[in-house]
Amino acid sequence: MIALLLAAVATGSLQAPLGVAHTLMPVPASLVWQVGRLRLDSSFSVRVAGSRRDDRLARGVERFLRRAGSATGLLLGRGAGGLALSVAGPGQRVQSPEEDESYTLEVTPGGASLQAPTTVGALRGLETVLQLIDSDSAGWYLPSVRIADRPRFPWRGLLIDVGRHFEPPEVIRRQLDGMAAVKLNVLHWHLSEDQGFRVESRRYPRLQRFGSDGLYYTQAEIREIVAYARDRGIRVVPEFDMPGHSTAWFVGYPAYSSGPGPYTIERHFGVFVPTFDPTRAETYQFLEGFIAEMAALFPDPYWHIGGDEVEGSQWRTNPRIRAFMRVHRLDNNGALQAYFNRRLSAILTRHGKRMVGWDEILHPDLPPTTVVQSWRGQNSLVEGAKRGYRGILSAGWYLDAMRTAEFHYLVDPLAEGNELEPDAASRILGGEACMWAEHVTPESIDSRIWPRLAAIAERLWSPRDVRDVPDMYRRLAVMRGRLEALGLGHEGHTGRMARRLADGHDASVLIGLLELVEPVRFSERSSLQRLVQQTPLVFAVDAARPDPPMQWNARKAARAALLPDDRATAARHGLDSSFVSWAALAPALDSLGAEVPLVRDAIPAARALARVAAIGREALGQLGRGPAPPEWIK
Ligand code: ACM
Repeated sequence: MIALLLAAVATGSLQAPLGVAHTLMPVPASLVWQVGRLRLDSSFSVRVAGSRRDDRLARGVERFLRRAGSATGLLLGRGAGGLALSVAGPGQRVQSPEEDESYTLEVTPGGASLQAPTTVGALRGLETVLQLIDSDSAGWYLPSVRIADRPRFPWRGLLIDVGRHFEPPEVIRRQLDGMAAVKLNVLHWHLSEDQGFRVESRRYPRLQRFGSDGLYYTQAEIREIVAYARDRGIRVVPEFDMPGHSTAWFVGYPAYSSGPGPYTIERHFGVFVPTFDPTRAETYQFLEGFIAEMAALFPDPYWHIGGDEVEGSQWRTNPRIRAFMRVHRLDNNGALQAYFNRRLSAILTRHGKRMVGWDEILHPDLPPTTVVQSWRGQNSLVEGAKRGYRGILSAGWYLDAMRTAEFHYLVDPLAEGNELEPDAASRILGGEACMWAEHVTPESIDSRIWPRLAAIAERLWSPRDVRDVPDMYRRLAVMRGRLEALGLGHEGHTGRMARRLADGHDASVLIGLLELVEPVRFSERSSLQRLVQQTPLVFAVDAARPDPPMQWNARKAARAALLPDDRATAARHGLDSSFVSWAALAPALDSLGAEVPLVRDAIPAARALARVAAIGREALGQLGRGPAPPEWIK
């Protein structure tokens, strides 16, 4: 450590984390601390170099000043000093994975300078400046630093499923605000499902009229959201899932399905029978008409066709489809789906779109320009890349699996020691977290996405060797607050919803419990509770949030309790009093549950926690007594 200090003195620079435990998230590609501080006061402003007008940049600077102002209480933007912003050009007219998102930032006591080749790079840099704002006894400041930053992967996304449960435009907009704050750049918008078709089509209005329960985005709303995303350097990739997961299409247009119909909107969750008919010319005419209309709404060069979980029985049992397969030498459903995908890909190419699909579409006949999204495991990502396909990873990043931020953080599309040659590795574009919405509503969505997503965003942006879990949690705790300041509701969610469940009674016991436990995983909830689409999602499990901060704190305390020095004593005392308070929750919740029906679901969790607390207390007792007897361990 002395050697490190001397080296830092010799070069005049301090490498993080020595000297400064920063709270940047994602961590920049390169960062060197300098000496001194740039004072932030009401004279601080942003000066944009050059005469060319860039409205997107101007709006970004406006938002930056507003957010810096609300972080500091300063009325900013009226002075002459501060941040010099220099942007070489606006970047791509339609953002693609090739967009240059790099920037360099230098802060000295005399001023700050942010340089970027594109507007998107400048937006990324402005987010970093906001995260650098700090305070000391003299007031607000930016620490002196030199940052040269660029993303590790060009495709860094969040999938939001609005098919199973609809999310209104304002909910989507606030997710976009959060995504920009953690430097994500793709909203993958899952717009059609068995349970709902969510976009207004003027050409085929029976889609939304019969397939949406009235819950869909108008074309004006779609345009507005796409523009809102572009303003934040975020692409919008639409997904219209086919040939399966498509019941809602056929309520209004049964003729394009492989069965006789009629159809109704599916209310259960799972994998269902209705499937597009890939054998009829009319199906492709319909899809081409639809894609032509939607291509004008969604400017992104990529288009997601879904392609997952084709149930297949309509294809197996329809004599006309079986005859078609014989004539075209399509030996099985996989071959028929590959035929469908080839025809879809040709339509998409005519409309300037490149095809993306889930990993089921990997097939020898898949067009080489296709991007494959791996959800069933990382193997398909590797397999696809070896066979020449570009790929994005989602396996390990399903937010409905209710895993910890740590679990998601350590998933890597290109882990150390991966088996890919450099050429194949370069085809891995990045990845996407997935917010599937069987159990998600506008009320709970923020609590499911944020802020575990910041950990995934860091994996996709920062260098591979940034993977220190305790440091991630330390920064995440700060990031959670920043995201809340943007209008996301994850921090207040549990308390707010628990008060509602408690129906006027004192909710503190329920809140105390829900701060300690997490929602059951997707599959467990599905089997425990027979949910349909209209089931109100107002249970204790909905009020709980994944990876509650108390969990990491408890893990940290347990580790400290095992240290071979004095720190262990304090940690053991702290843990012991936690265990005592955990055990007290169960009888208190029993009393509350006797009066309030919606609280009763939480009682088994409270009892299990009391049991854990009892075991924990015994274990602490054993620690002082040497090796525990085998009977006790059992
Ligand atoms: C999927 O989860 N079926 C993509």
